[in-house]
Amino acid sequence: MSDKIYVFDTTLRDGEQVPGCQLTTDEKVMIAKELEKLGVDIIEAGFPVSSPGDFRSVVEVSKAVTEPTVCALSRAVKGDIDSAGEALKFAKRPRIHTGIGASDIHIKHKFNSSREAIIEQAIDAVKHARNLVDDVEFYAEDAGRADLEFLARLTESVIKAGATVVNLPDTTGYVLPNDMYDRINYLMNNVPNVDKAILSMHNHNDLGMATANTIAGIRAGARQVEVTINGIGERAGNTSLEEVAMILKVHKSLGYHTDIDSTKLFPMSNLVSQTMRMQVQANKAIVGRNAFAHSSGIHQDGFLKHTDTYEIINPQEVGVPKSSIVLTARSGRHALKHRLEMLGYKLEKPLLDDTYKRFLDLADQIKEVNDKDLVKLMRA
Ligand code: KIV
Ligand code: ZN
Repeated sequence: MSDKIYVFDTTLRDGEQVPGCQLTTDEKVMIAKELEKLGVDIIEAGFPVSSPGDFRSVVEVSKAVTEPTVCALSRAVKGDIDSAGEALKFAKRPRIHTGIGASDIHIKHKFNSSREAIIEQAIDAVKHARNLVDDVEFYAEDAGRADLEFLARLTESVIKAGATVVNLPDTTGYVLPNDMYDRINYLMNNVPNVDKAILSMHNHNDLGMATANTIAGIRAGARQVEVTINGIGERAGNTSLEEVAMILKVHKSLGYHTDIDSTKLFPMSNLVSQTMRMQVQANKAIVGRNAFAHSSGIHQDGFLKHTDTYEIINPQEVGVPKSSIVLTARSGRHALKHRLEMLGYKLEKPLLDDTYKRFLDLADQIKEVNDKDLVKLMRA
């Protein structure tokens, strides 16, 4: 049996913090229902104290979904926690996500506090949240840059206070994957009650390492991943759900699984991109426009002989109808012949050679040659 990795989707909270991507309550509810169908375990629906609209969204998402846990964010402040508890009152499985900065940079500059005072505040917050709900997640903000011995003490303290999940965010996307492995491994071995809670990975992508760090954390013992659709989020974004889900599927020999229905990944990506008015970069892993497009002659030739030569995922597995062969000036005869055959033109040498020359001239001018261009070329 492989280990289950819990998928905590924060598209509606951390993802929605992206400038210009704010969602209405109705849009949040629509996305939450699709996230439920996708198979996520936890939906972070918002930060209720931040605005009346966000409060309302948490209430409505709580009513709209039944399977996933619905989570609301709060700072380690009584008023925030009460607001989160109130917004979650219709949730079948409510979770309060409360926390505070854990690195000395945050403790000094954000809170003008001390390590000992932070531990006290964290314990009080978790105990208060536990009076409202049974499931309380604690976040140690900027854990990636926190002193490790202090982080272990903080983690032990909040678990003893009743935290069911301890989130160790790399808030600034700073940590290297090997170091992430070592840090989580240290906590697994130096927090006496670590087996009474789940450790969670919440990584930002400032240096492009969010996904690698999340996988490193899993391998060291974390069993929850905090992710967003298309990797959207503050600055360079959060860990992308589709990447983590597919890494664990493609590398199943690692011994982990999620309950994500991978065939819904591409439609989900489109829905979030359209609703948030945020385009997905063409070369984005798994869901980008070019993720299953082959354009160079050598790759196209290999792919047409056997798809495994240049594809490690069948596109249908992630909901992309089929791979594509893009005809450009880097394409070879094999790809051109194949596309022409699909359009009903069966060419043998030397007509194929001649057509290929004319195709290259055209491709140099217009960059990408589509089916209409090919038909025109053949008619000419
Ligand atoms: O990045 C972060 O540290 C966060 C916390 C509020 C969980 O988003
Ligand atoms: Zn975050």
